[in-house]
Amino acid sequence: MTTTPERDRQRDTALAAEMQSPEQVLEAILDPKRRGSLYPYLHRLRALAPRLRTDMISGKPAWVLTRYADVREALKHPDVRSDARGVDVFDVGPAGRHFVEMQKNTLLFLPPDKHDRVRGLISKAFTPRSVEHRDGRIREVIHELLDRVESKGRMDLVHDFAFLLPVIVICEMLGVPTEDLPRFYDWAHQSTARGEIGKVTDEIVRQGEEATLGYSTYFLELIEDHRRRPRGDLMSALIDARDEDGRGLGDADLVGSCYILLQAGHGTTQDLLGMGMLALLQHPDQLEFLRGARSGIPTAVEELLRFDTSVQISQRVADVPIELGGDRIPAGEVCIIFNGAANRDPAVFADPDRLDVRRDPNPHLAFGLGRHTCLGQSQARSELQNAFDVLLERFPELRLDETTPPAYRDSLFLRGLGTLPVVF
Ligand code: HEM
Repeated sequence: MTTTPERDRQRDTALAAEMQSPEQVLEAILDPKRRGSLYPYLHRLRALAPRLRTDMISGKPAWVLTRYADVREALKHPDVRSDARGVDVFDVGPAGRHFVEMQKNTLLFLPPDKHDRVRGLISKAFTPRSVEHRDGRIREVIHELLDRVESKGRMDLVHDFAFLLPVIVICEMLGVPTEDLPRFYDWAHQSTARGEIGKVTDEIVRQGEEATLGYSTYFLELIEDHRRRPRGDLMSALIDARDEDGRGLGDADLVGSCYILLQAGHGTTQDLLGMGMLALLQHPDQLEFLRGARSGIPTAVEELLRFDTSVQISQRVADVPIELGGDRIPAGEVCIIFNGAANRDPAVFADPDRLDVRRDPNPHLAFGLGRHTCLGQSQARSELQNAFDVLLERFPELRLDETTPPAYRDSLFLRGLGTLPVVF
């Protein structure tokens, strides 16, 4: 499936306008063939039913939220949680149970008390200051990766650069040997495919189990090795971390934490790098501006995060009935939050489908909000800002490879490109 330039966007806006029922629009959004052209349908859903109660996603009633104000309220509401109930959307029965159990042990879905304790322990090891120290290393890795492709004059930006940069950085940080990358390359992709909402095939469920068991065994061995020979990395810090009562993290929490740091620490940034570069290449005036004013890159990165974000969906559940907009959401029903729809809400962002690398202020929700706000956001910003800066500096002629079009992956939850061939 190819990407969607302006012409396709207009076509899909017209197609979406003909759809009169929100369920029909949601079906289009869940259709893997529409990945390149998602936003016209999100706009239409927001206009028809900004809070849609439906069982189309998990078979149980859930609320699909697409308005910025509702999304913000749900993310910040003290009685609305992300916990094991949010994992329901991945539950396909016993055939997929290891994946579901692993999710329940990650920071994203721990019960609130435990979440705050584990997040506190991870944060101790994972401060903005430590990221600052890593800034230099991030730039070094970027140059090393570009050195490898420079003489070829072309690369698949996703495969040769966007995947490798964040995965190398998070591996080095965690203490995962980069020689082991080939071992978990497939697990990483299988796990992302399994963590999709809507329908997943039996084969994806099977691969998801394989990936989960592979990761668990691998991390348990590595944790044991770190216990025997502590090092100055994040894994050793996690093993050593203790709260005020002297309690540390058990094996299941350590595995869940390593898993979420590795998975969340690379796929999201990889996808943002790919989609961000594509957005710039499809808006030559914006790219030209940045080439002449690289000091504008931090502001531009915020716009790229807003314009086409990698984490499209978050789940939440209210503990008590809550009022959202004009609707009453009953306790216990899952809210499916569409971050990407909120980031294009015209009530907050003027001309939301226009890429404006100078947009400021830019209160996008790409890193979430509240209790679960992205723990790695300063690191992600550093990787994105440095990557765009060095790419623009070293490859002033970088452009799309006309012979091979870019393509989105099928995933909706974690949106991204499967390939982005470029020449320079
Ligand atoms: C462009 C890159 C990134 C994007 C767009 C992104 C986005 C997000 C979002 C939206 C959430 C909140 C999910 C929710 O509320 O349900 C989140 C949580 C999280 N992110 Fe990121 N992220 C990125 C990069 C990273 C990196 C580099 C790391 C680690 C090195 C990381 C680690 C985490 C963790 C551990 C959580 C869970 C926090 C919690 O539940 O308390 N992320 N991220």
